[in-house]
Amino acid sequence: MITEVKCEDIQDKIITYFPEFKLSQSPFQKAIVYKLDDVIGFIVYSIMYERAEIDYIAVDERYRGKGISQKLFDYLLLNLKCESISLEVNSNNKRAIGFYVKNGFKEVSVRKNYYKDSDGILMVKKLEVK
Ligand SMILES: CC(C)(COP(=O)(O)OP(=O)(O)OC[C@H]1O[C@@H](n2cnc3c(N)ncnc32)[C@H](O)[C@@H]1OP(=O)(O)O)[C@@H](O)C(=O)NCCC(=O)NCCS
Repeated sequence: MITEVKCEDIQDKIITYFPEFKLSQSPFQKAIVYKLDDVIGFIVYSIMYERAEIDYIAVDERYRGKGISQKLFDYLLLNLKCESISLEVNSNNKRAIGFYVKNGFKEVSVRKNYYKDSDGILMVKKLEVK
């Protein structure tokens, strides 16, 4: 089941995958979760007027490769009224890049040495305005 939650409700989960995460008081940042008994996947995203950004996406290791991210992403898109959605991904993260390419994201720029040992790739997907 997919539901909308406050980032503070899943702060511990987010930190498990993204230790650098800091709870922001920004009204733009939101989250959706995929829940069985517990939360097994989430997307944290921000909507800034005509632009949306995926800040964090992760699925519990035991449930990867089963389409959970796809379901979360499809749910997010259904409810977005933005012109585009973007994200930043580590160039070493082939699995995530595969997911984004499959979902129509295009690489628009490379941020050299954005991460300690690798580049950051900025990817954008244009959306149909609803
Ligand atoms: C990236 C991540 C969120 C994908 O979640 P997932 O639920 O396993 O993904 P899905 O099962 O929904 O896969 C959807 C598509 O992604 C791509 N994909 C998924 N796993 C892949 C892999 N191991 N290699 C290449 N592509 C892959 C495929 O295109 C797949 O579609 P297909 O099943 O029709 O081939 C998950 O691997 C994860 O939590 N990784 C750790 C956190 C992370 O790196 N987040 C991204 C930070 S930018």
